[in-house]
Amino acid sequence: MEPTVAEARAALGSRLSHRSLAHADAVAETAAALAERYGTDALAARLAGLLHDWCKDTPHEELLEEATRRGLDITAVDRARPYLLHGPVGAAMLADAFPGLRPEIVRAVEVHTFGATDMSDLDRILYVADMIEPARAHRGVAKVREAVATATLAELVTLAYARSISHIVKGRRPLHSRTLDVWNSLVQAVDGRP
Ligand SMILES: [Fe+2]
Ligand SMILES: [Fe+2]
Repeated sequence: MEPTVAEARAALGSRLSHRSLAHADAVAETAAALAERYGTDALAARLAGLLHDWCKDTPHEELLEEATRRGLDITAVDRARPYLLHGPVGAAMLADAFPGLRPEIVRAVEVHTFGATDMSDLDRILYVADMIEPARAHRGVAKVREAVATATLAELVTLAYARSISHIVKGRRPLHSRTLDVWNSLVQAVDGRP
């Protein structure tokens, strides 16, 4: 059986800091609102939003250990910044903790940090909700928020991804190898360019 929203919320309480818990609640609300706006499953979006940072507060050594133990893909960038593994490790741990959780929710959690070359509507909604939840005040986020009223979901996630890449580049942080592939796939989906 899939956990109810209340069960998922209760399980989070013992894992996340106060701050992370407030973020999880806000992403759940935002994801559910986006799902309604784009005509997709609001309960799935709410659960994905609530659970997406299952491993956000997990110590870095533990993330690396879990990823190794589970045979997950670990790149050099992940080794330098193990926090980047919190999506895939969180997804794997959630599937164990809640065997009834729908695979599409587990998958949305898995790809919430980097996106993927074949993002489902739920993947897109979670990615955007994580970026635009009300407490996020980063530069460029307001533009993404405003676009919700008019943009298609494919356009919206492309706009959000562009903001994220420019943030990484401006901060002179390394780009993950996956990021370029995801960007190309998003642009192609929107513009039809190869
Ligand atoms: Fe996250
Ligand atoms: Fe998050």
